[in-house]
Amino acid sequence: MTTSGITDSVLIIKLGGAILTDKRSTCTLASPSNLDSIFHQMLSTYQQSSQKLILIHGVGSFGHPQAKEYSVKEGTSKNQSKDVRAGLCLTRAAVLQLHARVIKDLTDLGLPVVSVSPFDHVMTHGGIDASSSTSYEHLCRRTQALLDQGYVPVLHGDAILDDKQSCTILSGDVVMRELARSILRTSRCIFLTDVDGVFDKDPKSHKDAQLIQEVAITHEISQSDAINGVADVTGSMHGKMKWARQIVHDAPGKVDVVICRQGTEASRLAMSGAAIPTSAQLTIFR
Ligand code: IPE
Repeated sequence: MTTSGITDSVLIIKLGGAILTDKRSTCTLASPSNLDSIFHQMLSTYQQSSQKLILIHGVGSFGHPQAKEYSVKEGTSKNQSKDVRAGLCLTRAAVLQLHARVIKDLTDLGLPVVSVSPFDHVMTHGGIDASSSTSYEHLCRRTQALLDQGYVPVLHGDAILDDKQSCTILSGDVVMRELARSILRTSRCIFLTDVDGVFDKDPKSHKDAQLIQEVAITHEISQSDAINGVADVTGSMHGKMKWARQIVHDAPGKVDVVICRQGTEASRLAMSGAAIPTSAQLTIFR
């Protein structure tokens, strides 16, 4: 990023687990060429944009299968025979394996990335939905301090401690929402994923599915189809839509949220920070 171009506005990008990993199996990365293209896109965004950057990544096959197997999201609130503590350890080990790879590859490209661990900074009280934004204050303060010093903070979906149910799962989508409402001058949040945006039907099984290019926050979408049959304990596209709406609702007219496909012209346009025409092949919530 050129010093002369720095403005105060902040762009938050979430790299979905679906683009970083192969979600059909356990602890399997996306192809080296896909990873290379994703990380180079982060580099060009950092170099060309005048905005400050925060990255969040999902976990895909490095966390979802383990969390599902041990019901880590429900923790001890679910009467279970499985050892939830072992589940948390296995989930975190997988998440950190992917996280180390993301940090290393971005560092090798010259981005000043630093890791921020949700596990170390967030404690919830009876699951994500029952917990307030105070649970995230420490995480947000830490991220703001790094941003102020010119770093690119990198966060991720995680398994975290919960003081009522012992542990739970924190999606990177929720991390994005909490950062967007706490980090000063956040202007856009982008979910980079493996589909063009939100469709009126599942595009993977319906050829006539139509892309919904713009969503007003009051607009309800009925997406009845589950996106796919893989293990996903944080809700896939439905979760993204919920949090996208919430982010716009938190700061109407100040923050827009884009869901777009990694590697497309539309994603480059969104990451440039420019205004987005209604014809763009993506979904924008505003
Ligand atoms: C999930 O994070 C975290 C764990 C299951 C440990 P995300 O919800 O952000 O991950 P993706 O993007 O769906 O893979």
